[in-house]
Amino acid sequence: MAAPLKVGVAGLGNVGAALAAQVTHQREALAVRCGRRVEIVAVCARSKTKERGVDLRRIKWFTDPVELARSPEIDVFVELIGGAGEPAKSAVEAALASGKSVVTANKALLAKHGLRLAQLAEKHGGALNFEAAVGAAIPIVKTLREGLSGNAVQRVYGILNGTCNYILTKMEQENLPFADCLKEAQRLGYAEADPTFDIEGHDTAQKLAILASLAFGTRVEQSAIYVEGISSITPADLSAADELGYRVKLLGVAVKTPKGIEQRVHPTMVRKDSSIAQVMGVTNAATIDAEGLAPLTLVGPGAGGAATASAVLSDIADIARGLRTAPFGRPSAKLASVRKAPMQRHEGGYYIRLLARDRPGTAATIAKRLAQQEISLESIVQRHPKGVRESKDGSVPVILITYATHEDAVRKALAAVGRDRVISGRPQVIRIEKN
Ligand SMILES: NC(=O)c1ccc[n+]([C@@H]2O[C@H](COP(=O)([O-])OP(=O)(O)OC[C@H]3O[C@@H](n4cnc5c(N)ncnc54)[C@H](OP(=O)(O)O)[C@@H]3O)[C@@H](O)[C@H]2O)c1
Repeated sequence: MAAPLKVGVAGLGNVGAALAAQVTHQREALAVRCGRRVEIVAVCARSKTKERGVDLRRIKWFTDPVELARSPEIDVFVELIGGAGEPAKSAVEAALASGKSVVTANKALLAKHGLRLAQLAEKHGGALNFEAAVGAAIPIVKTLREGLSGNAVQRVYGILNGTCNYILTKMEQENLPFADCLKEAQRLGYAEADPTFDIEGHDTAQKLAILASLAFGTRVEQSAIYVEGISSITPADLSAADELGYRVKLLGVAVKTPKGIEQRVHPTMVRKDSSIAQVMGVTNAATIDAEGLAPLTLVGPGAGGAATASAVLSDIADIARGLRTAPFGRPSAKLASVRKAPMQRHEGGYYIRLLARDRPGTAATIAKRLAQQEISLESIVQRHPKGVRESKDGSVPVILITYATHEDAVRKALAAVGRDRVISGRPQVIRIEKN
């Protein structure tokens, strides 16, 4: 049998501790599958005394992750600290620069520095594997990078943040407001004390940046992504969506259009009978549309120590087997710069909820403004949908579903309706994704 693969792990939190336990538990199976043993020989975290539920007594302890990354005693550096800054960035760079392979679950680091790290890996001959960075246990990175090497991907979209999907599921199933469901998510440990990063869509955007690069052979570029979170969604929207045959999900979508690659994160109406609409609670999912294939949907646990560690360990196993794939599926010099499709040119159907003032001429004014922008309506609901009440000033909810139109047409029509003073408050707009 070949010499054991020596692994150094920086970060022994939820994922790092689960990884150490899994390496022990799967020791024999890994040795058989990889043709060599996989051994964690060195670790690093902030506290040496914290109880982590794993026996680390015979493993060398480092206080500095960069020192561990450079150590000649390891073949692979596993970064499970997190964050796009220090010490994760310097440690990963140090490991790659010394020719070592790196496995990381760090979406923030990859979304910000993915291209540079891939170049560094190529230059010095190490692997850079990051299956766990998107969708944790769901093998979406390998599916795009390897499973679909021979297909042209048209679109990839997914539910990439369990916190948001939990909140939207609970709001829909129990007809509760956003704030109550967020509190419950925090109580259950699904949401952070400061949930902004998740609920405003930034976590999804980091993961989408990685998927878009893998899908389209472009450089990872988080700044190319349009981002909107879920905090403005109300139970009224969810029950109206339900009546109209839709469900609302926070989706990250990357799609090839004639104007370039559109990358966007926003609450999205998906048909209730689609695969993605069935994904409830903290579960994640991603759907890939590729030429010549029916849509391919992968569903599974997108977070949690053990789920994430399973993807990290599969990346380590690839290195033990001697498998090397370019980090983003092709040499970094072949990654194209992103031709960003502007959001104003986004084309699709829209759900619009307005509070129309109850006076003569309101409906005609709204219809005129939509017609001026050449927006046609698939349906109009003026009766009160389940759970939507008339407002105190007598305004009546009107729900419009448009046929495919452009984002700027919708924005212009609604701005004009606002100036006409025939509605109260701000209109709610949710994009509809064809699926
Ligand atoms: N948890 C998930 O469900 C999940 C899912 C997908 C991806 N990920 C990614 O996996 C990575 C790790 O996440 P996690 O949930 O395991 O995080 P975590 O529980 O917060 O653990 C972070 C670990 O890093 C160590 N650390 C922090 N600063 C350090 C420093 N300056 N020097 C040395 N060690 C340091 C901490 O040490 P102490 O323990 O001593 O404080 C801790 O062991 C992140 O990139 C995250 O985005 C996590």
